[in-house]
Amino acid sequence: MNEVEKCIRERRSTPRFKSDPVDRELIERVIEAGLWAPSGMGRQSPIIVAVTNRALRDELAEENRRIMGAPQGTDPFYGAPVVLVVLAGASVPTRVYDGSATIENMLLAAQSLGLGGHWIHRAKEEFEEPRFRGLLARLDVEGDFEGIGHVVVGYPDAEKPQPARKGGRVFWAE
Ligand SMILES: Cc1cc2nc3c(=O)[nH]c(=O)nc-3n(C[C@H](O)[C@H](O)[C@H](O)COP(=O)(O)O)c2cc1C
Repeated sequence: MNEVEKCIRERRSTPRFKSDPVDRELIERVIEAGLWAPSGMGRQSPIIVAVTNRALRDELAEENRRIMGAPQGTDPFYGAPVVLVVLAGASVPTRVYDGSATIENMLLAAQSLGLGGHWIHRAKEEFEEPRFRGLLARLDVEGDFEGIGHVVVGYPDAEKPQPARKGGRVFWAE
């Protein structure tokens, strides 16, 4: 098994993170991997909003919790200090696939750098909220974007067991 295959095999969603901050250089490397993801017709419409500000991170988490309908006090980001929100061009037909490829690249990069990661849903609903649309405007994001998902990143405080792969999912047509 080469290093990439090993990284793919060993990546797991981190069920709990330490609150320790992550060096900006590492975050930048994770983001860079996302930027290299494939996209339909090479449009490269996905953008990444890197949230490291604690108050904003908590605000996003609270909104995500509310959308999910989870009990108050639940942290849908599992304590991760960094939230990388992936959004993609709202009118791009492949936006969900493009954004998903971006997310998976970042999850694998996080794993390769000794960080934990977790894919978190509900970015679409979050970024339909005027308050988070306003955030995009404040960050000088131009154009209409749809939330695709989040990669939450940090140092793992717990490991997730390796689930067996379900069988019967490969069909060879030789
Ligand atoms: C599209 C998508 C959305 C997900 N959304 C969430 C989520 O909102 N919350 C969560 O805890 N995990 C979420 N996950 C993570 C999955 O639960 C996780 O990948 C799955 O349990 C398999 O575990 P593994 O990543 O360790 O292989 C999501 C994964 C995908 C692909």
